[in-house]
Amino acid sequence: AQTQLGVNMVDKGNHRHFMLKEIYEQPDAISHTVSHYLDLANGKVKLPAKLPFDFKSLNRLTISACGTAFYAGLVAKYWFEKYARLPVEVDVASEFRYREPPMDADGLALFISQSGETADTLAALRYCKAQGQHIASIVNAQESTIARESDIVFPIQCGPEISVASTKATTAQLSVLASLAIAAGRQRGTISEAEEFELVDMLAKLPGAITKALASEDKIDQISHALSKADDVLYLGRGSLFPIALEGALKLKEITYIHAEGYASGELKHGPIALIDETLPVVVVAPSDQLFDKTISNMHEVAARGGKIILITDEAGAKSAGDDVSEIIIVPDAHEFVMPIICAIPVQLLAYHTAVFMGTDVDQPRNLAKSVTVE
Ligand code: AGP
Repeated sequence: AQTQLGVNMVDKGNHRHFMLKEIYEQPDAISHTVSHYLDLANGKVKLPAKLPFDFKSLNRLTISACGTAFYAGLVAKYWFEKYARLPVEVDVASEFRYREPPMDADGLALFISQSGETADTLAALRYCKAQGQHIASIVNAQESTIARESDIVFPIQCGPEISVASTKATTAQLSVLASLAIAAGRQRGTISEAEEFELVDMLAKLPGAITKALASEDKIDQISHALSKADDVLYLGRGSLFPIALEGALKLKEITYIHAEGYASGELKHGPIALIDETLPVVVVAPSDQLFDKTISNMHEVAARGGKIILITDEAGAKSAGDDVSEIIIVPDAHEFVMPIICAIPVQLLAYHTAVFMGTDVDQPRNLAKSVTVE
């Protein structure tokens, strides 16, 4: 019912599907989101409300969510641990709630949900509340149950998302999480004022970087024709790009029904390499960074077994990728901090164009609902 209401209230403009419209809304949505959380003129994080907890005294942050929102939480783990030196536990809400983990009183539990109504995420929230945790949530629907039951709500400010496949809500969630990680780093004294200024500047430049990433759409459209013939697709990524590999695989299976798996690149030799032959496309999400050499050797292992590599990388990565790669999708150069948000764009477009080419129902994929209010 919620989706029908949304469909009636919001139109697709000149776009063929809500998903493409929402993909293209990302520069504006992120601009809106970051201006809500950042004092751009002074290069500082400006949280919209007084926090009912203190990042400084926290020993642990516990994040629960489902699906794409869970992957946003996985990226956040890298950010909070690196920039705020705050240990983070992330779990899918359906596991977390039944696992009934022990929790120290006064900890912070953070829930990420576009709809704010996901049954498992809500149940995890109620469990954490009973365990004496501070409850924070990142939601799109500010009137939702998860928002109402939270001590503090961080809205994502991206406008209604109609397509079942989440796109702009995901990158907006990531932008809020990045802002919170900087705030935590400042409060905990693990980043300096100058570092805060630099990180804030990177977030301020995100809308422009996302616009540049969208410029690869025609190339991605061409690549999607071959991808649509595959029965299985493997996605690989390292570090904070590993969750983007998971996200790419989820998006592809969600709207094309092609079987896809995301793996940490370093896990290739621990199992998935057995799948590789000339019929298996491998999407590698790997901008040039200090671990890029390791990714090159992973790609060599794939190419040596006939696997077709589609590499998502920056200019420097494209130059050093070598002959093992079949296709390259270029993303703009950026610091590793913001790369997960930028690299989310090509994986969305790749799933979208493959689905369009295959003729599936992009905005309403079979068996799925926008808001999952039952277990
Ligand atoms: C995303 O493309 C999916 N439709 C799905 O994984 C979604 O993210 C998940 O159901 C969680 O929804 P929520 O953000 O509304 O809680």
